[in-house]
Parts: sequence; C-alpha cells; structure tokens
Amino acid sequence: MSKTAIIFGATSLIAEHTARLLAAEGWELVLVGRNRQALQVVASHVRLTGCAPVHELHGDATDMDSLPQLVESANQLLGRLDLALIAWGCFFPNPDARQIQEMERINHVATTALAKLLGQALAQQRGGTLAVLSSVAGDVLRPANYSYGSTKAALDADLQELRQTLAPCGVRVLTIKPGRVETPLTACVPRSPFSATPAATAAGICRAIQSKQDVVYLPGWLRAVFFVLRSLPKGLVKRLRF
Ligand SMILES: NC(=O)c1ccc[n+]([C@@H]2O[C@H](COP(=O)([O-])OP(=O)(O)OC[C@H]3O[C@@H](n4cnc5c(N)ncnc54)[C@H](OP(=O)(O)O)[C@@H]3O)[C@@H](O)[C@H]2O)c1
Repeated sequence: MSKTAIIFGATSLIAEHTARLLAAEGWELVLVGRNRQALQVVASHVRLTGCAPVHELHGDATDMDSLPQLVESANQLLGRLDLALIAWGCFFPNPDARQIQEMERINHVATTALAKLLGQALAQQRGGTLAVLSSVAGDVLRPANYSYGSTKAALDADLQELRQTLAPCGVRVLTIKPGRVETPLTACVPRSPFSATPAATAAGICRAIQSKQDVVYLPGWLRAVFFVLRSLPKGLVKRLRF
C-alpha cells in the first residue's frame, strides 16, 4: 500500500520539488493550493514523476474557517494520512503595517491553526508526521527581516508546544528550518552566495521525513552556525551586518 501525504502550499517551489520526490517514491498525494491554475500545473508535473494518484484541493490560508473541511476532505480522499506538510508562507522586505499583518496571519496564525487540526487528525489515527516549513530567520532576528523572522519564531514556539502535546499519541512534529533558498518568495531580495536550490532543499526535507529528528536545518551545517549566532551577546549581534 502506498504512503499518503497532504501538502498545503503545494505551488511553493520547495513544496513542488518535495511532491515530485515523494511521488517518485510511490506516495499518494493531496496537493492544496490557493491558485487553481498554478495548482493544476504543479499537479500535472507531479503526476509525471509517479504512478500513485495525485489529488488537488483548493485552499487559502486567509480563509481559516475552511481549514477543518480541507483536512476532512484530505482524510476522505486518502483514508489514512502518513504525512502532512505545511509549506505556505509569505515574505515582504521592508513591510508596511498591512504586509506585517499578512505575514503574521499566514506564517503564524493560520499555520498554527492548521497544524493543530492536522495534529488532532494524526492523533486520532495514533501516528504520522506533521512537518512544517519554518525558517532560520526565526532563530536570530535581524534588521533585514525582523517582521518575517518574528512570525517564524512564534511558529517555532507553537510547534514545540504541539510536539510535546502530540508525542504521547505517536505523532511526530517536524520543524524544518531552511536557510536562503532561491524561490519566488525571495526573488525581491539580492541573491545570496550561500543560497540552496529548491531541489536540494526538497531532498533534505525528504531525508528529514525519514529521520527521527524534531528540528532540521537545511543545509545541515546551518545548525552549528545558528547555534553560535544565538549564543552571541545581544550587543554584538546588534553590530553585525548580515
Ligand atoms: N525561499 C527561502 O529562502 C525560504 C527560507 C526559509 C523558509 N522558507 C519557507 O518555505 C516555505 C515555502 O516557500 P518558498 O520559498 O517555496 O516560496 P514560494 O515558492 O513563493 O511559495 C510560497 C507559497 O505560499 C503560498 N501562499 C502564500 N500565501 C498564501 C495563502 N494566503 N494561502 C495559501 N497559500 C499561500 C503561495 O501560493 P501561490 O503560489 O498561490 O502564491 C506559494 O505556494 C514558506 O513557508 C517560506 O517561509 C523559504
């Protein structure tokens, strides 16, 4: 029997690459996206790489009332859920008040609400993995992305709470913290020499799903870098330009 997964924000470039890798391994997938046309394109690409069914569901993070029905629909389509991956997110450089609110709403409030619903569904079936795309930006807040970073820091805290609550039910909560990846999300800021590709990040996500770790940095060496950065005195961090 093939493994099953639901991916929210399936039109994200990182999510699309991840879905292709899972499909190639024989997973049956439900892809959720807010843009029906973009979702159809992604789903058709994913279908080319695997032979298990690939379903499409329309879902928008801003419509929080629709989230329970989305989880229910995925359950009906798949029967049992082995993996739920939340990949949606948004980022605005130099955000105004409305954009700060949007980042908070999508990256933190809607993602945490959805994670709780998915956690309940996995707990009811006594097992499965809930994986969420957070970011290293939540580890050390810096002038270039205070608002975005704070939404991911708040998300990390909520995921930690959920991990502790759900562990006795056999549910694993996996926080994934990529560094910079070149995708449409970051197209508005200059390229970084340290960026990863969406394909390499997706391969890391698939390895993380198979592992037993709770929090994964991608690439892995970022764990040591951010351990050091978090340990630095705040006064020194204030003077760093990064
Ligand atoms: N790129 C990086 O450097 C980086 C680093 C660390 C973490 N991340 C995280 O990785 C995740 C995926 O990002 P990405 O880099 O792959 O960027 P991306 O390709 O721009 O994907 C962003 C995704 O979020 C979806 N989305 C945005 N607002 C939504 C809403 N209201 N409802 C439903 N979906 C919504 C977008 O849908 P549409 O296609 O309809 O716009 C798209 O699927 C995000 O959570 C991001 O914070 C990215």
